[in-house]
Amino acid sequence: MGAAGMGRTQAVNQGPPAPAEALARARAAVQAAGRIVAVTGAGISAESGIPTFRGAGGLWRSFRPEDLAAPEAFQRDPRTVWEWYAWRRGLIAACVPNPGHDALARLALRQGHTTIVTQNVDGLHTRAAEIQAGGGDPTPAIPVEVHGAIDRDLCSGCGVRSPGSHSIEVSSVETLPRCVVCDALLRPDVIWFGEALETRVLSQAFSMAGQADVCLVAGTSALVHPAASIPLATLEHGGMVVEVNMEDTPLTRHAAISLRGSAGALLPALLDADDLP
Ligand code: OAD
Repeated sequence: MGAAGMGRTQAVNQGPPAPAEALARARAAVQAAGRIVAVTGAGISAESGIPTFRGAGGLWRSFRPEDLAAPEAFQRDPRTVWEWYAWRRGLIAACVPNPGHDALARLALRQGHTTIVTQNVDGLHTRAAEIQAGGGDPTPAIPVEVHGAIDRDLCSGCGVRSPGSHSIEVSSVETLPRCVVCDALLRPDVIWFGEALETRVLSQAFSMAGQADVCLVAGTSALVHPAASIPLATLEHGGMVVEVNMEDTPLTRHAAISLRGSAGALLPALLDADDLP
């Protein structure tokens, strides 16, 4: 039976198996898979020093999303919103990919039928792809970024995109960055609460998940839809979900295999086996 068939019969989690046994089963599933989609969230970047959103130390414990990550907040107080994003840009720029990003990038570069879909806006999958490609073509490991990219600006007027600046003067509204085309305020090119995800990007993510034999979900609380529904497309196709997380999530009951621990330790252990494709 291929990985696709196994997904149908093992979709109900039978409780946490011993880690070594679960890891061996997950490695076998990855090895047997023709197509793999990896869906990642903030947890995969935690070991790079980037705070997650929920849980201990999460950004939404200290900041109110409705004040910082909503279109109404930007209309009301663009200076405060930019101040927060400029801080996050600086923090992220000082971070580097960790072994979890690296292992996924290596898998995508060597396997050829792996797609990385990320909710993260930090660009660390792309940086890992470039590093692991070692001067070669990083394209197969460049992720589908369903929530945008913090390093890019979007014009709030005409919608034009441009590379983001790292030296934003946030002392007043007058000094905030403006569009060279229409002079409206620029904003970070990330999805905010209440905004729709870009249709083209979202359908690409669902289409890849809908063809995958294995959906490897790492470091997401699986609480924010529609991104949290992407792994379900793999299940509908007859594939299996393998979850890597520190704790249970709403997706755990759909996962054939749940690996509990850090993505930085588990993903290399899972994906860097010598005998993998
Ligand atoms: P969350 O902060 O909601 O969840 C992070 C998940 O990572 C939790 O389930 C943790 O248990 C897990 N985790 C933490 N450290 C880990 C580690 N070292 N290894 C493995 N797992 C670890 O982050 P997301 O699920 O990504 O949206 O959040 C989804 C969206 O909510 C984000 O994209 C963002 C936020 O509002 C937008 O910005 C649109």
